[in-house]
Amino acid sequence: MIPKETVDKIFDAVDIYDVIKDYVNLKRAGVNYKGNCPFHDEKTPSFVVSPAKGIYKCFGCGAAGNSVKFVMEHEKVSFPEALKILAKKYHIEIVEEELTEEKIQENQTRDSLFIVTEYAKNFFKTQLHETSEGKNIALSYFKERGFRDDIIKKFELGWSPQKRNTLTESALKKGYKLDFLKTTGLTIAKDNDYQFDRFAERVIFPIHTLSGKVIAFGGRTLKADKKIAKYLNSPESEIYHKSKILYGIYFAKNAIVKLDKCFMVEGYTDVISMYQSGIENVVASSGTSLTVEQIKLVRRFTKNLSIIYDGDAAGIKASIRGIDLALAEEMNVRIIALPEGEDPDSFAKKRTLEELQTYISKHEEDFIKFKTELFAEEAKNDPIKRAQLIKDIVKSISVIPDRILREEYIRSTAKQLNVSEEALYSEVTRLLRKNFDDKRKQNYGNTYKQIPTKPQLPIETAGIYSEVIEKEILNFLLNYGNEIITIDDTDEEISVAEFIISEIKNDDLKFHNLVYKDIFKDYEKYFYVNAESVQDYFLKHENEKISKVAAELLGPKQELSKIWESRGAIENNIEKRLHELIPELIDTFKLKIVQIKIQNINKQLVQLKSSETYDDELNRLLEELNLFNQLKVKLTEFLEKTALL
Ligand code: CTP
Ligand code: MN
Repeated sequence: MIPKETVDKIFDAVDIYDVIKDYVNLKRAGVNYKGNCPFHDEKTPSFVVSPAKGIYKCFGCGAAGNSVKFVMEHEKVSFPEALKILAKKYHIEIVEEELTEEKIQENQTRDSLFIVTEYAKNFFKTQLHETSEGKNIALSYFKERGFRDDIIKKFELGWSPQKRNTLTESALKKGYKLDFLKTTGLTIAKDNDYQFDRFAERVIFPIHTLSGKVIAFGGRTLKADKKIAKYLNSPESEIYHKSKILYGIYFAKNAIVKLDKCFMVEGYTDVISMYQSGIENVVASSGTSLTVEQIKLVRRFTKNLSIIYDGDAAGIKASIRGIDLALAEEMNVRIIALPEGEDPDSFAKKRTLEELQTYISKHEEDFIKFKTELFAEEAKNDPIKRAQLIKDIVKSISVIPDRILREEYIRSTAKQLNVSEEALYSEVTRLLRKNFDDKRKQNYGNTYKQIPTKPQLPIETAGIYSEVIEKEILNFLLNYGNEIITIDDTDEEISVAEFIISEIKNDDLKFHNLVYKDIFKDYEKYFYVNAESVQDYFLKHENEKISKVAAELLGPKQELSKIWESRGAIENNIEKRLHELIPELIDTFKLKIVQIKIQNINKQLVQLKSSETYDDELNRLLEELNLFNQLKVKLTEFLEKTALL
């Protein structure tokens, strides 16, 4: 039992933002923070953390609670276990009673498995650092490999002694139950008389969860004997699911967020050597090919995943399926091939941080391009293989949820494979429609009828003031905010309000009209509090300017905004077309803002006076201009393209 005073102390110390930011990439949103909910699958953030109230709430799945609840849910631990995790974080000492056999029995199995694993970790560490066997054999091995002392300590490396049952014997003597030693795989028992240590005579790499708790081990033999497995790993258990964890994630997560990028390597030694060289945003999938869960784990912290692999093509071909999964999670996947005969471990060891960084930035290659190249050579003179390759690449492209990115890929792949963009485009569109239809059919059975594709005219933006677009956005928010739409690209179901809010906030789009700006700000706040009565709230708003606009937008007879002039009759089926109209509206808003930015930059360019910083200024403006022009092209192209439905 944790004493009541200690419990209070922990509650006083915790800061919910500080706790949750270890697990979720949070961005400030007014007085709150927002991020992607860790408890359900989502791509637009609806997970809100309120530091003032000390609570979190997900508006997508309804998960809510305080810091302790969060840790309980996230780590799947009991209340006391969650308190212990928080106590550790805030350096609060918990005076624990001696573990008696009775006490251990009282604990839940999971807790017991954690506890025995923690015991083993400490045991292995002590063996490494404080016994002559450990020092002579294992510590010297690590040093020979070039691991620094601080790194050995940080990663909590250890040594499991030569004598076959040192750990088991010691743990049993301390009162840990054989059952738990067996379940965690630390002890292998033929029958109750003969037990031995799984990891005997191996150096130990503990595997940490996101919060730094050890759940499993990898053990490497120091013998060169080919008949002995080089690595042994803990078996799956209630606390260890290898497909859900990445080696190194605990040490890497801060750097991943900071650098907005994650490197993926093969194994323990690769992670450690890279980390030691100063590349801290590195994790390993450890033996398995990448799983969706592992990708989601990374995805919580960054969208940018760079996979480092050793030069041979066979290795990378085997993991391509896993990488395709990452694309579907909207990740930007890049590949870095190392020189022949090197792995990240050997590679990092021989180089300074600068050299590593230079190599990486020089050799980093986009995954789809890389994949195309990898197979293009084989397929060059074989039309069947070639057709297969095109199909395969198209499939990779079609799982990318972001349409602009997809189009970029279509363009570059067309060049690479020497096929027409149109052919690729129509094939991607066909696959997208097929995926979409399949899902629809799954959800709605046979009643779902395919909606025929119809060409649409682009929205004319040039003559429209941004205020008109802004007002139209508010119009949709107020009238249809609670409607649920399915976004074509991702098949994600989301309310109109959440979609618009997240689009606007993600890209930091600013309203020009100050009243509209206030309405949007207020809407965002109020929607999350009481979505149902949001119309009423604005109609009765204390600010007259706001209530007037609301009345206009919510009033009985509405004129169709001239934004849609070129779009033919939409008055009668707006509700059915929300999923298509809203993304278009938002992109139109973006385009308008980009146009205004371009105008401003041009103005500045004209007015630029000669001075000491003239060249710098000029370059900066030209760079910006270039960037916005690119954006403009993308947005215009999208708005001109036929939408999916
Ligand atoms: N690995 C594994 N199981 C194996 C071999 C390798 O899990 N049977 C993983 C380990 O995580 C290891 C990584 O792959 O860190 C790299 O493999 P390898 O270079 O063979 O392991 P090292 O310990 O670096 O061995 P060596 O000193 O021979 O390079
Ligand atoms: Mn190696």
